[in-house]
Amino acid sequence: MSIATGVPALTPDEAAHGAQVEARLRAEIARAGGWIGFARYMELALYEPCLGYYSAGASKLGAAGDFVTAPELAPLFGRCLAVQCEEVLGTLGGGELLELGAGSGAMAATLLAELERRDALPRRYRILDVSADLRERQRETIAAAVPGLADRVEWLDRLPGDFTGVIVANEVLDALPVERFVMRGGEVASLGVAVREGRLAWCEGPASERLVEAVRHIERDTGAAWPEGYFSEVNLALGPWLGAIAAALARGVMLFVDYGLPRREYYSPERSEGTLLCHFRHRFHEDPFARPGLQDITAWVDFTAVAEAALAAGLDLAGYTTQAHFLLGSGLDGFLAEAAGLGVVPRAQFSRQAMLLTLPGEMGERFKVIALARAYGARLRGFDLRDLRHTL
Ligand SMILES: C[S@@+](CC[C@H](N)C(=O)[O-])C[C@H]1O[C@@H](n2cnc3c(N)ncnc32)[C@H](O)[C@@H]1O
Repeated sequence: MSIATGVPALTPDEAAHGAQVEARLRAEIARAGGWIGFARYMELALYEPCLGYYSAGASKLGAAGDFVTAPELAPLFGRCLAVQCEEVLGTLGGGELLELGAGSGAMAATLLAELERRDALPRRYRILDVSADLRERQRETIAAAVPGLADRVEWLDRLPGDFTGVIVANEVLDALPVERFVMRGGEVASLGVAVREGRLAWCEGPASERLVEAVRHIERDTGAAWPEGYFSEVNLALGPWLGAIAAALARGVMLFVDYGLPRREYYSPERSEGTLLCHFRHRFHEDPFARPGLQDITAWVDFTAVAEAALAAGLDLAGYTTQAHFLLGSGLDGFLAEAAGLGVVPRAQFSRQAMLLTLPGEMGERFKVIALARAYGARLRGFDLRDLRHTL
């Protein structure tokens, strides 16, 4: 432990890796003339091949890593999601599952096991993840948890063409690189990265036309009057990213789960310092320059932007609600009722999982679920209890 901060000290290997990542970032900044936008910084720190947080060997998810997600914490999450997937696959009369950014593989294993239990297995479960290192971990998790179903799982290098079925992604949108902007005298500036007094540091630079246009669009849409120095994040890559996924979906539904807000709340004048968060050893903080390559960097999701990008890509906005309402609509109470017949310990585990997933002070309200559909007009049970589309 480092006594000063309470954060565990880096091992020599971690320190050496962190130094390599920082050298790569400094070289990029020098090559660009002394300054890079924050999205480029985030892309390199998280995804640079062999170096970035998601591309190198850090543990990342789980108790030995830096953060835990709903599928890691609570299999009930994946079991409820399976109920929603079963409904869509049933309506489509078949189809497949595609998971984007599958992390440790925990959600894939739970979904497959629950769909088998319900006699609703898809022909194939496909996974597309940018991290080669996590792919190996996913293979191991699935082989250990559901060995009989492992041969249904296929790892993709790119999006498939003509996909019919359900596309799921938990906590992937928040991991996409974002730009940071700051308001100066009513103008938009870009808060990027430079080296100052020998250290990586925030530094204002000129905003690209795309960044100015995106920020002005948010201002117009929200009617926000931001104070001088207001800063926040915006994801300029969301449209093309979602457009490519939409182009792959011939028929079916996408379900994205993440922490985020409708635009009006995300960019409210009071939320004047953005939503960027870093995770290292189960502690969170706001300094993306602290341990590049060794810590996760995320930003909350503007779900209005997701809905806009989906509509622009020809998809329908089929649902938007809190995680709590989605899980309750997807059979959470049924699973709890089943657990009533079990022993005291599994019953206690079930109710603890349900509380973590649904209580407002835990993940229940911070996390939202958005459903985007193509050629799919049927009901989605996860959105029956509370439909919040009007808030976007
Ligand atoms: C925060 S983790 C979430 C993992 C998992 N879904 C979970 O909930 O435990 C983000 C995941 O998204 C993956 N990822 C990031 N950007 C991606 C992209 N553009 N396409 C596919 N996967 C991506 C990462 O490699 C990682 O597996």
